[in-house]
Amino acid sequence: MTNSNPSPRKPSEKVSHAIHRTGKRIALTGGSGRVGTALRRILTEKVAAIKIVDTADPGPLAANETWDQVDISEGEALAACLTDVDAIVHLAGYPNERGIEDILRVNVLGTHNVLDAARRNGIDRVVFGSSNHAVGFYPRETRVSDADPMRPDTLYGLSKCWGELEAGLYFDKFGIRTLNIRIGNAGDRPTDARALRIWVSPRDLAQLVLIGLEHPDITCTTVFGVSQVEAGWLDNSTAAALGYIPADSAQSLAGPDNAQERPSPLPHIAEFFQGGRFCVIDHDGTLRGRLR
Ligand SMILES: NC(=O)c1ccc[n+]([C@@H]2O[C@H](COP(=O)([O-])OP(=O)(O)OC[C@H]3O[C@@H](n4cnc5c(N)ncnc54)[C@H](O)[C@@H]3O)[C@@H](O)[C@H]2O)c1
Repeated sequence: MTNSNPSPRKPSEKVSHAIHRTGKRIALTGGSGRVGTALRRILTEKVAAIKIVDTADPGPLAANETWDQVDISEGEALAACLTDVDAIVHLAGYPNERGIEDILRVNVLGTHNVLDAARRNGIDRVVFGSSNHAVGFYPRETRVSDADPMRPDTLYGLSKCWGELEAGLYFDKFGIRTLNIRIGNAGDRPTDARALRIWVSPRDLAQLVLIGLEHPDITCTTVFGVSQVEAGWLDNSTAAALGYIPADSAQSLAGPDNAQERPSPLPHIAEFFQGGRFCVIDHDGTLRGRLR
């Protein structure tokens, strides 16, 4: 395994947002997907090599990219393809609600397999693509930090809670350091009213990934993957303490459609909670509050 830190840092020393590159060879699970493809365009210039691990074809590859067609729910095959990387950025999985069997096989078992492949191969860094839906059942009027209890809005969100908690277990038992990035709404620009509060640009997400790959203070640490947003719902002070300074502003890229909420069969639920339409899935329609 390479140690790409050019000079050792004191644990208390803050790293600025200007982590421009790393000498690490990374595996990028889900590298053929929407977020993975956008990230690769930036990360290919900033890491030594990218091994895409995905069942789907990633299309044209950069000079330092390779593709292993591996299903993350197959633990042996996954561990076997991760023998020559220094860190894993884990994005593969279903990005929205599914039946419990799919969620358990791909998002839960798949994430377990990623962490366990790290342990088996002596890889001590993971960046986990978690989701805002791990805390989607907080009301929009609540400002949520990474220290607040998880409150998933779907089985999908619950699978991200599993991943974050298992990352903690793998730090406590094996010293594997994980940055959980609760990605908001990833895209080139925000496209609706909810996205305006949780949008993240590709380059801001890449900045967080680089922090996750390099920052010496990360243990099992959770941040929100969100760019500059006005009147946001998420307290991202942990990311700021790690040196994250988002470069892109949701409001400055907002189009005329951004004032609109996306239509929902239960708008009094969708527009009350942070998770929006994910909260509505299978919901009985009664608006409930609960103590924190
Ligand atoms: N898109 C967002 O705004 C957003 C928000 C929050 C979290 N996330 C998380 O980011 C990650 C990527 O999301 P996305 O929007 O790019 O989704 P996507 O569906 O476009 O990409 C997911 C990728 O994972 C791959 N994949 C699925 N199952 C697999 C398996 N069993 N083995 C190997 N590869 C598999 C798919 O082929 C695909 O390329 C997901 O984990 C998602 O939960 C995304």
